[in-house]
Amino acid sequence: MAVRAGGGKVSRIDTLINAMTLPEKLGQLTMASGSYALTGPLHFADPSDAIRAGTLGNLLNVVGATEVHALQHIAIEESRLGVPLLIGFDVLHGHRTLFPVPLAETSLFDPAIWELTAREAAAEACADGISMAFAPMVDVARDPRWGRGIEGPGEDPWLAQRFSQAKVRGFQSGNLAAGTSVAAVAKHYCAYGPVMAGREYASVDISERTVHEVHLPPFATAVAAGVAAIMPAFHDLAGVPMTAHVALLRQWLRDHLGFDGVVVSDYNAIGGLILHGVAADLSEAAALALNAGVDIDMMAGAYLSGLPGALERGLVQLAQINTAVYRVLTLKERLGLFDDPYRRGATKEAAAMLGPRRALARSIGARAIVMLKNERAALPLAQSLRRVGLMGPLADAAEQMGGPWPAAGNTEAHVSVLAGLLSALPQTEVRHAAGVALGGDGAVDAQGALDLCAQVDVIVLCLGEAALMSGEAACRTHLGLPGRQREFAEAVLERAGALGKRVIVMLFSGRPLVVPWLVERADAVLACWFLGSEAGNAVADVLTGRVSPSGRTPVTWPRCEGQIPIFFGQRPSGRPANPADSFTSRYLEAPNEPLFAFGHGLTYGSFVFSNLRATPRCARREETIDVHVDVLNEGTLAAEETVFLFAHDRVASVARPLLELRGFAKIFLQPGEQGTVNLRLPAAELCFLGGDLTVVFEPGEVEILVGPCAERARLLHTSVQLL
Ligand code: BGC
Repeated sequence: MAVRAGGGKVSRIDTLINAMTLPEKLGQLTMASGSYALTGPLHFADPSDAIRAGTLGNLLNVVGATEVHALQHIAIEESRLGVPLLIGFDVLHGHRTLFPVPLAETSLFDPAIWELTAREAAAEACADGISMAFAPMVDVARDPRWGRGIEGPGEDPWLAQRFSQAKVRGFQSGNLAAGTSVAAVAKHYCAYGPVMAGREYASVDISERTVHEVHLPPFATAVAAGVAAIMPAFHDLAGVPMTAHVALLRQWLRDHLGFDGVVVSDYNAIGGLILHGVAADLSEAAALALNAGVDIDMMAGAYLSGLPGALERGLVQLAQINTAVYRVLTLKERLGLFDDPYRRGATKEAAAMLGPRRALARSIGARAIVMLKNERAALPLAQSLRRVGLMGPLADAAEQMGGPWPAAGNTEAHVSVLAGLLSALPQTEVRHAAGVALGGDGAVDAQGALDLCAQVDVIVLCLGEAALMSGEAACRTHLGLPGRQREFAEAVLERAGALGKRVIVMLFSGRPLVVPWLVERADAVLACWFLGSEAGNAVADVLTGRVSPSGRTPVTWPRCEGQIPIFFGQRPSGRPANPADSFTSRYLEAPNEPLFAFGHGLTYGSFVFSNLRATPRCARREETIDVHVDVLNEGTLAAEETVFLFAHDRVASVARPLLELRGFAKIFLQPGEQGTVNLRLPAAELCFLGGDLTVVFEPGEVEILVGPCAERARLLHTSVQLL
C-alpha cells in the first residue's frame, strides 16, 4: 500500500518512504556523532558503515566541507536509496568567528544585530557543510547558579521572544534552501531554567501558569517565525520528562501551535528516560518519545534498536514512524539537500568576509560590555597615561575569551585583553602580571603584581570565571570569584588605595557574579561576559573611550546567593517589604533589592528622562499606544542610551508582575543634545492569561513606566485606560 504520510499526490518523499525498509526508516530518525562526542557517550566510532547501510541519516559534530562531503558521498552514492545526510552542529554565537556569548549579545538590546550575527554564523557554518544549528537557546533563566543562562537571552520572557524571533530569521533567512541558510533548532523545550536548586539536569516543578506565561512564549515566537526544529530539554516537568511530554510536545506544540517541523531529542535524552524512571527498557523509552512526537533520536540509538521491539509489542504504530520520517525528509527537502547535497561547503567562505566579520565581532563585543560602575572619572582612560598595570588571571587568556561553547572557533585566534590594550595604546607602556591563578589554590607571582601598583598610573584587573565554569553541566553554589582571586583582588585594592591609584575591574563570567565587596571598592567595574574572537580589542575600545559602553544587563545581579531566584518580574506581595514592619516580605540580613537591576548599565554620557506621554490615553485591544519620552544627554561625552518600557496592571483578575517589559529602544546623543524616543505599544501586548490560562484583555487602568532599567524609583510613569 502506498503511504502518503503528508497527504495529497505521491511526492518524492512518499515514494522514498514506500521504498524504505524499517531499518532505513529508523536510520532517518537517528542522529549520531560523526567524529567526536562532547556531552555524552559516543556510538559509532566511524559512522561510514551505518550511512552506507542506510541506518544512519543524520549526523552531528562533523565540521568541514571535506569531512561532510566525504560522508555525504557515501550516503548519496553508496546507500541503497541515496538519501542525503542532515548535519547538525552547536552554532550558538558564531561558528569560526565567535561573537559575544548569547547572554552578552542580549546585552545589546538590538534585534537587528541578533539577526545579523545568526546570519553570519549560518554562512560560516554552511561553508563547513552544516545544515542545522542547534540554536537558538531561548530558555528563560532566573537562577544564576544554573550554568546554562549564558547560552540564552536572560531572565525575561518578552525579551526572549524578541531574541528568539531574530535568531530564527537570521539562521534561516526566509529561504532554507539557500546555500547560506541552516535549519534553526529552538531549545531546550521548555522550562529548563528553573531546574531544582539551580542544578543541571535536575527536576523542574513549577506552576502551569509559569510554564505558559514565562517559558513557552519564546518557543511560540520561534514557531511563528518558522523555526525548522525544536529540541526538548533533558529535565522532567513535575515527573514527566520533556522528551516524553505528550501534553507539551504533541498537544501544545503540534496541535495548538501547528508546528509541523522536526522535533530532535537532546543528546541521549531518549536513553535517559530509563534513568528518569518512566521506561523499563529502550523499546519503552523509544515508544514514549515517538508517541510524544520526537522525530529524531540524537545519540541514544533508541529508535534504531528499540522501535522494532516497540512495534512488535504494539507500543507504537508504523504510521507514527512514517510520519516522523516524512517530517525529517521534508526538512531535508526544504533545505535543498535532495537537489544538491553538496551545496553547503561547495564554495569556500570568501576570505574577504573574514575581516568584516572580525570587525563586526569587535564592534558587537564593545557594545555588549555592561559598565556596572564608573566613579572618580576612572573611565575612559586618560590620553596622558604613561603606564597601565594589567593584572589578573584573565588579562592574558585568549583561550578563555570564547566562552564555554567555542564551537568551531579557533581559540588561539582570539584576542586577549593584553593584546588588545597593547595595540590600542601604542604610546602607553602596558605592564602585565597575572598575580593569581584562575582557579584552585594557585598564586602566580602575587608580589610582582602588587609591586606593579606603585609603578603604574592606573590598574586594570581582569577577574572572573574560567570559560568552562558556565554552560552545560557547570552549575555553582557560590557565585563569587573562583580560587584565590578575591584574596588577590583585595590585596591589590588595598595597595592601590594606599597609593591613590584607580582600579578598574573587567569581570568575565557566564552569569552575574556575587561580588558586592568588589563593586564597592573598585573605581569601575565592567561586566565583559565572554566576548568571543575579538574580546581584547572590544575591551580596549571601551577602556580607551573609542566606544562608549552601552550594554545593559539582561539578568538581575544578586547581592548574595540567598536572594536567588531574583528577577524583576516578581508578583506583588500582600505584605510588601517595609523596613519598619517585621511581618513583611523581606530578609533579616539582606535587603530585597538586587545589587544591579535588570537593564542596568552606565555609559560615558549622563542621561535625564522627562516628559513621558502616552497617546491615546484610552485604547481598545486592536489599537496601538504611542509612548514618547524625552532624553537629554547632560554629560560631556556622546553616548547611546537604552530606554525601557514596562507595564503594570495594578488590578487584574490574576495578580500581574510588578513590572512587565513591553518595549525597548536606543538613542544616540551628543553632549547637551536632547531627543525623543517613541516606543509603540500594541494594546494587545497588555493581554495576559486569565484564571483558566486563556488569553484575556481586561478593561481598566494600566501603568506605563519608562526609564533606564527595572529599578522602579528611576522610572517615569503615566497610565492608559484599556477599553
Ligand atoms: C546539549 C544541547 C546540544 C547537544 C548537542 C547537549 O548535551 O544539551 O544543547 O545541542 O548536546 O551538542
